[in-house]
Amino acid sequence: MFTYSDLRQSLRASLAAFLSPEEAAAEAALWFSEGLGREASWFHAHGMEPVPDGERHQIGGWLERRQKGEPWAYILGWSLWRGRRFETGPATLIPRPETELVLEAALEVGKRLGVRHAVDIGTGTGILGITMALETDWAITATDISEKALAVAQRNALALGAKLSFRPGDLLGPVPNPVGLVVSNPPYVDPADRPGLQRELSFEPETALFAPDRGLALTTELLKQARVRSAPGCVLEIGSGQGDELSTRARVMGWKRVMIHRDFAGHDRVLVVC
Ligand SMILES: C[S@@+](CC[C@H](N)C(=O)[O-])C[C@H]1O[C@@H](n2cnc3c(N)ncnc32)[C@H](O)[C@@H]1O
Repeated sequence: MFTYSDLRQSLRASLAAFLSPEEAAAEAALWFSEGLGREASWFHAHGMEPVPDGERHQIGGWLERRQKGEPWAYILGWSLWRGRRFETGPATLIPRPETELVLEAALEVGKRLGVRHAVDIGTGTGILGITMALETDWAITATDISEKALAVAQRNALALGAKLSFRPGDLLGPVPNPVGLVVSNPPYVDPADRPGLQRELSFEPETALFAPDRGLALTTELLKQARVRSAPGCVLEIGSGQGDELSTRARVMGWKRVMIHRDFAGHDRVLVVC
């Protein structure tokens, strides 16, 4: 008899072929909770029960895809971010926990500046724009250069009951006046780093990851456009080690207050200018 406990053991072992033992155990727990709806507490009562064939095949199919490098969020089709479920697929970046730092900084800066409008540039799954729409009374516009990503964000807004407007296009181009607070997690990976990146990243859209000029091009252009359009400020996710150079560029453009927030690992993560 092949029980749920056996399945968990063998899944951990299979995942440990390409993950650390700790990551494999954590991911196996996610497959059970998010994929099969079976939480850890369920195991105490049912771990010794036999696994129905349907569930064994389902896990086998997921494993085949995962062994080829496909990220779990794409296999599952959604991600939890700040406690909400966002449809996630190959047209969108997978929401990252560190992007919550951008949201928290945006909520704080927006409140301090008394903004009434904000834009989420490069919305992807919509995490930033939708969350601002749900957690503030600001008027929110979300944009993306990818119409496929924008369609995912629109479905997520509908599913979560968020009211905001969506516009396709390049950076601030499609945003009406007044622009409001500019919030974004733009592509900021240096294309030169591509060979050393995790294989999972090759499943995510290139336009969501890479930017010319060592990853700084889109962030720089966004800071420039926001200044020209008299935005009250910008809150932008940035890459580790990009803080100094972007701060210098922002000051040269005339932004008066420039701050870098670091993430829990101590890396540059959020650039705030106003
Ligand atoms: C790093 S992803 C961020 C997605 C989402 N905001 C998040 O934090 O998970 C960057 C997004 O910017 C979009 N993008 C890339 N270049 C753009 C441009 N020039 N104008 C607007 N959006 C762009 C990509 O399609 C992608 O959805």
